[in-house]
Amino acid sequence: MSTDKTNQSWGGRFSEPVDAFVARFTASVEFDKRLYRHDIMGSIAHATMLEKAGVLSSDERDQIISNLKDIQAEIEAGTFDWRVDLEDVHMNIEARLTDRIGVTGKKLHTGRSRNDQVATDIRLWLRDEIDTILAEITRLQQGLLGLAEAEAGTIMPGFTHLQTAQPVTFGHHLLAWFEMLSRDYERLVDCRKRTNRMPLGSAALAGTTYPIQREITCELLGFEAISGNSLDGVSDRDFAIEFCAAASVAMMHLSRFSEELVLWTSAQFQFIDLPDRFCTGSSIMPQKKNPDVPELVRGKTGRVFGALSGLLVLMKGQPLAYNKDNQEDKEPLFDAADTLRDSLRAFADMVPAIKPKREIMREAALRGFSTATDLADYLVRKGLPFRDCHEIVGHAVKYGVDTGKDLAEMSLDELRQFSDQIDDDVFAVLTLEGSVNARDHIGGTAPNQVRAAVQRGKALLASR
Ligand code: ARG
Repeated sequence: MSTDKTNQSWGGRFSEPVDAFVARFTASVEFDKRLYRHDIMGSIAHATMLEKAGVLSSDERDQIISNLKDIQAEIEAGTFDWRVDLEDVHMNIEARLTDRIGVTGKKLHTGRSRNDQVATDIRLWLRDEIDTILAEITRLQQGLLGLAEAEAGTIMPGFTHLQTAQPVTFGHHLLAWFEMLSRDYERLVDCRKRTNRMPLGSAALAGTTYPIQREITCELLGFEAISGNSLDGVSDRDFAIEFCAAASVAMMHLSRFSEELVLWTSAQFQFIDLPDRFCTGSSIMPQKKNPDVPELVRGKTGRVFGALSGLLVLMKGQPLAYNKDNQEDKEPLFDAADTLRDSLRAFADMVPAIKPKREIMREAALRGFSTATDLADYLVRKGLPFRDCHEIVGHAVKYGVDTGKDLAEMSLDELRQFSDQIDDDVFAVLTLEGSVNARDHIGGTAPNQVRAAVQRGKALLASR
């Protein structure tokens, strides 16, 4: 990146060049150059509109547009000379245009400001990022549905307080993650609506004296609406905050998901295996296979929460309208989008490759009195009040702890010590299958219900 300062576009009112360090300190081109495609898209729309408004001739418009396209090609070929003295992506591209076509290039900035330009660019960029992220969420959800369908009848312990609670099906557990991701998807779709509004035409802060037609640029750029107030147009970064909030919730979900994968791959649980390609080894302990992908996703979650709080703090003290503070919006926003997209991508690749260890899950569900609630419900059906049943089963569990037996391993005589209402039909409810099959309602863990939920999930994804 070159740094000679010869072409400051705002240099007219200055009597000395900007200090070299200050030039670097105030420049954003190192990070905002990634907006180049959207910057050029915005400029092409702006030039098209300027011609219709009578500001540019059709020849000037055509020359600007074809040269902007050439500049995009230069950037993509890696031959573009990004200059720090030109501060940002906007002035780098405009200066190059003027290099190429002279005075006509200088007309492009008529009726706009970098303030509405940058606000437009970020929104166009974020809209595309949201679309990519939505596609990754869908891909991950597809993987979850496939696995849930295959594991609809696989039994594992369900936990509360990380203590064995009741048996659940593995498919049901997977579909809990599916639900979380559906809400993440909705939140991002909603955020996209408010992202997709056009500030272009707000100019520096007050609008412009040229006869611009904002409907034209709005239509050309595919925005849903035009921002209704020029001061708000250049200063609003709510959409970026909303995105980081939605991204934070999604990362929080992925982090919880990660935590379970880390636990489940451990020697203590052994509920699942992750394929080697998603793990790494230890340089000292030859036996180790570490679940790096989920661990790293769990760790990266903090970056996105940081971006959200960074943007909130960035905005909270700003008077209207644009302030240079806003240049600090980009790095956290870019990082949040990159982190969420890559984390989703890693999960979407990994989830279909999860290998459940069904026997071990089943053995774990058989331990820990996971059907104790089923025994209580059985006694309720025999006519006892629930609180009494709870106490009866509590005694039975204590006996089980003392004798090392789970409920289903006790004889009928042993069970009848606690209530004479218990008959030999009790064993049907104490089995794992009996327990999960009995929870046969919408949202319940019964294999039937899991299969039905998978069908609903498929219909949801097909409707997107
Ligand atoms: N690089 C600036 C930013 O990211 C562009 C807008 C600059 N506007 C200004 N008046 N200095 O916010």
